[in-house]
Amino acid sequence: MNQSILVINGPNLNLLGKRKAEHYGTLTLENIEGQLSEEAVKLNLNILFFQSNHEGEIIDKLHDSIASINGIIINPGAFTHYSIAIRDAIEAIGIPVIEVHLSNIHARESFRHKSVIAPVCLGQIAGLKDFGYIAALHALIDYLNKS
Ligand code: DQA
Repeated sequence: MNQSILVINGPNLNLLGKRKAEHYGTLTLENIEGQLSEEAVKLNLNILFFQSNHEGEIIDKLHDSIASINGIIINPGAFTHYSIAIRDAIEAIGIPVIEVHLSNIHARESFRHKSVIAPVCLGQIAGLKDFGYIAALHALIDYLNKS
């Protein structure tokens, strides 16, 4: 059976296209999801998308993934920097997760330098704008195929 990959985007990422282009690029979330869908066809994967501005909804989605999802790409938005609850959910579900940021969080304000999510992820990709999601998809599939 094909691998199923879930892409989760957190708060304010529904406003991509309107947010600061220097950090986030000009694409909308719909554009980014479209690119990922095209890549998933090439890679013969099932891909699912979820966006929420609410911490609890993201946690519920992570829990609901246990039975059916092989790998997760998450951009937790500002939750990256303080949501121990999302971190604990990722640790609990035991599904490989890659953290993605459009902007280079390490080159921005100091409050963005720390990710409480990264230690429970396979890896983090930051600063590559929309391409970061495509890079994460390839990295996840490479990991799943080797494990
Ligand atoms: C972000 C970086 C976060 O610091 C910020 O709060 C976001 C987006 C990124 O994709 O670069 O909302 O996760």
